[in-house]
Amino acid sequence: MSNDLTWHHHKITAAQRAAQKYQLPAVLWYTGLSGSGKSTIANAVDEKLFKMGCHSFLLDGDNVRHGLNGDLGFSDADRVENIRRVIEVALLMSDAGLLVQTAFISPFAEDRTLAKSRLGERMIEIYVDTSLSVCEARDPKGLYRKVREGTIKNFTGVDSHYDVPSNPDITVNAVSMCADECADKIISFLTEKGRIGTSSVGE
Ligand SMILES: Nc1ncnc2c1ncn2[C@@H]1O[C@H](COP(=O)(O)OP(=O)(O)OP(=O)(O)O)[C@@H](O)[C@H]1O
Ligand SMILES: [Mg+2]
Repeated sequence: MSNDLTWHHHKITAAQRAAQKYQLPAVLWYTGLSGSGKSTIANAVDEKLFKMGCHSFLLDGDNVRHGLNGDLGFSDADRVENIRRVIEVALLMSDAGLLVQTAFISPFAEDRTLAKSRLGERMIEIYVDTSLSVCEARDPKGLYRKVREGTIKNFTGVDSHYDVPSNPDITVNAVSMCADECADKIISFLTEKGRIGTSSVGE
């Protein structure tokens, strides 16, 4: 980074922008195996927030790879860069006062630690706890079938590691609870913690 760059502080803070929408800036960071239900649950949360009049936005793995991260592949270096960019975009969007949701497998604890170091108290880590066998049976994108056929390598949970979060803010068991119940649990958390329905600017 150039030494000639200077951070320009703006007059309106993230908390003020969010307060205008009766919410606090937040990044709901979902993590879980492929097929665990991250996109499905985040969509349900998005819909509920929208109906409540909150202002949210969902950054979803495959969608982001179509555009912003279209130049990245699945090498270790590209996976790290993929997450780094998502963290920075989530940070900017939460600076704009939004409730941001990110739905990426984000399998490595160090990815989530990096996110935490950038997002701080704004980050709410959500572990979508679905066993590999259930994910494989669901196989919504047909990816596990391709893994078993040997056409996809380095797949999380099969031949690439997944670090189970050690201390997530919320765990949703997407086997015993349907997607709507998982979404309700997340909305309840946001309400109880005063992250929505508030005009406080005390971030
Ligand atoms: N309780 C549940 N919560 C979420 N999804 C569920 C649940 N029960 C069944 N499903 C189904 O499981 C599938 C989950 O797929 P989804 O695309 O949401 O997973 P994902 O975690 O986003 O995967 P990927 O990392 O590959 O994007 C969907 O087909 C969904 O309908
Ligand atoms: Mg998804």
